[in-house]
Amino acid sequence: MGVIARWRDRLPVGPATPELTLGEGGTPLVRSERLSERLGVELWFKFEDANPTGSFKDRGMCVAVAKAVEDGAEGVVCASTGNTAASAAAYAARAGLPAVVLTPVGAIAAPKQAQARAVGARVLEVRGTFDEALRSCQELSDRGTFALVNSLNPHRIEGQKTAAFEVIEQLGRVPDVLALPYGGGGNITAYAKGFAEEGATLRLIGGQASERAHTIASAIRIAEPAHAHEVAALVADGRAELVSVRDEEITDAWLEIASREGVFCEPSSAAGLAALAHITLVPGTTVVCVLTGHGLKDTAAVDVLTAGATLVEPTVEAILAEVCS
Ligand code: F0G
Repeated sequence: MGVIARWRDRLPVGPATPELTLGEGGTPLVRSERLSERLGVELWFKFEDANPTGSFKDRGMCVAVAKAVEDGAEGVVCASTGNTAASAAAYAARAGLPAVVLTPVGAIAAPKQAQARAVGARVLEVRGTFDEALRSCQELSDRGTFALVNSLNPHRIEGQKTAAFEVIEQLGRVPDVLALPYGGGGNITAYAKGFAEEGATLRLIGGQASERAHTIASAIRIAEPAHAHEVAALVADGRAELVSVRDEEITDAWLEIASREGVFCEPSSAAGLAALAHITLVPGTTVVCVLTGHGLKDTAAVDVLTAGATLVEPTVEAILAEVCS
């Protein structure tokens, strides 16, 4: 069951809203073995990268595109560091609407662009930053015709808040801490809303790249977070905490998740775990770390962060000479 069908009574949908789905939501919550031990807590990973296009964006995109159809939009438009583009493109194709996606030139991971192209989106590379691309998308959507499906569209936040409902349902309780990356801030805003609707209080930790404009984690390479004001209000109310993490901390966390847990996420996804190193965790408490995007989204990062493959002759001697040396 997709997000709209599963959470219909918690979403702004009605009889005229198409039940658009690619089977998003219902993602696994998996207990960490080794990192739980190292951190002295009960750590869980919420695999949002198990969504249909490989990122958490699908959870809100199904609602945003369904509402665009309901409202008679002739197409959807978004600016993206890659994942929003892949998700918007997929759901627009599913809904039979054209999608226009704008990405900062040369600054997104190639597989994400491939996803958008594969399903027929019009991909425009912008000579500029994500923030500049987002501003032109807003202007375009203000003229009518195209619905903006960035997280400034409140339907995206509505869909994404369902992840908080699921975490509580899967754990059977509210976690003490939930950590996730903070890029534009849509997702942390959505979790805060979801938990608030459940009457749940917890520590919500947003890990942001200290080198926002240049981070290796291209998904969160955003200089001006679109939800900065909402996030600041959450912080002021004691409902969220922000932690800035250096690229080296993000990549170390990424390597640790991969090599010690067998979990392959994209680098930006590791910002939540990296942030946990900066806060005091009460021993034995329950901590959820949201993995937002799949590792296959950014294989170029793997080339930078790990040793390459070794070429050998197809003989036992050659193999042993390599693996035993
Ligand atoms: N993790 C991944 C994998 C992302 O793609 C993004 C954002 C974030 C975290 C940050 O989430 O912006 O809600 O705070 N990606 C957007 C995009 C910007 O265009 O795909 P946020």
